[in-house]
Amino acid sequence: MRLTILGGGGFRVPLVYGALLGDHAEGRITHVTLFDLDERRLSAISRVLAEQARGVPDAPVVRVTTDLDEAVYEADFIFSAIRVGGLHGRAADERIALDEGVLGQETVGAGGLAYGLRTLPVVTRIAQQIADLAPDAWVINFTNPAGLVTEAMSRILGDRVIGICDSPVGLGRRVARALNVDPRKVWLDYVGLNHLGWLRGVKVGGKDILPRLFEYDTLLGSFEEGRLFGLEWLRSLGAIPNEYLHYYYFNRETVRAYSEAKRTRGAYLLEQQEGFYREMERSDTPALATWQRTLADREATYMAHNREAAGLGDRYEEDLESGGYEQVALSLMRAIARNERTTLILNVRNRQTLSVLDADAVIEVPCLVDASGAHPVSVDPLPGHAVGLVTSVKAVEREAMAAAESCSRAAAVKAFALHPLVDSVGVARRLLDNYMDEFAGLSYLR
Ligand code: G6P
Ligand code: MN
Repeated sequence: MRLTILGGGGFRVPLVYGALLGDHAEGRITHVTLFDLDERRLSAISRVLAEQARGVPDAPVVRVTTDLDEAVYEADFIFSAIRVGGLHGRAADERIALDEGVLGQETVGAGGLAYGLRTLPVVTRIAQQIADLAPDAWVINFTNPAGLVTEAMSRILGDRVIGICDSPVGLGRRVARALNVDPRKVWLDYVGLNHLGWLRGVKVGGKDILPRLFEYDTLLGSFEEGRLFGLEWLRSLGAIPNEYLHYYYFNRETVRAYSEAKRTRGAYLLEQQEGFYREMERSDTPALATWQRTLADREATYMAHNREAAGLGDRYEEDLESGGYEQVALSLMRAIARNERTTLILNVRNRQTLSVLDADAVIEVPCLVDASGAHPVSVDPLPGHAVGLVTSVKAVEREAMAAAESCSRAAAVKAFALHPLVDSVGVARRLLDNYMDEFAGLSYLR
């Protein structure tokens, strides 16, 4: 099987390759193609992969290319993990929003929307190219904002594109651990949009054990989301929200923490990652060790400003381990390529799952996966408060897609203005003006 990674010079690629190295069964990935626009990044990451592969006789063969046609042609699976505008773009997304007093974050609020608006035309072109050159390939989308990007690609690729995120798995793992059950043996009743979902139940043998968590302060306060949201708010909701909902439920506090921070997450990562790729230019740099050290730092500082806003200290040791998104990606490929039937929380088209959304809306939901693809399972309806958020954010995503499709500046303003975390049409107009001044990639809006 052949896997192509778009954004193959990206920092998280060794996580995926590491997962592949543990798979020795028939039908595994034998060839990996890394596609990236930047040769320096490709050569840095290839060096890390080469060290990972040492001593593994059946390690997948790696090749690199800067030619997209060549990369997708004959691929069985294509991972899309690109970052349009790079980390410079991420830092600017954050700064411009914060200057207007609203949230600037990679996937949430005004920052996520700006990122989405410049990413949509690019991923639409890529999807078209895949449809032409590799119509049978399965596309696994990591590119953020993952829900929006997956939906835009699904308009061209249908159900052959599946979006993935590690946050529901991470949440499930933490909650299972708190309840002292094996995370692999529980059914997670989780649903929503990407980075906007709720865990409403944890079933073991058909019995929901999540209520147990709410009974004891010690249990509810024993994991990241319990500390982040506070016990009282979790009890009010009667569900455990995805960590990204912290930006909604504690918007004022997170905006303040982000604004007062010495550097935003994007600015911090920009510097950290530039340091990594620069170090890798030296031939005597130990590739794998340098990557591991950088990864450990990246993990340790993840969502640091949110934890600060909530008055928390460091992340727990057990939350720093990886095993998130690369394992979801590997399980998904195995299920499809080898018909290993499994259940995964994925971003797929709604069909009839949530009655408040139309059939083509991409949602994040448990899916049965096998050789025929990912099929959402039926779930209980969302409670009213969640319907409110999910339908408004989906409406924003739809405006963004309309803006990208018809190059409409008015639609882009409408998307910003309708976002629940943007509090005025005036702010929306200024945001778009400022983003357009910053990003040449938004000049398509007229
Ligand atoms: C989680 C999210 C991803 C996001 C990442 C950001 O894993 O699910 O969608 O890209 O965090 O992490 P970073 O280290 O880039 O802030
Ligand atoms: Mn994610």
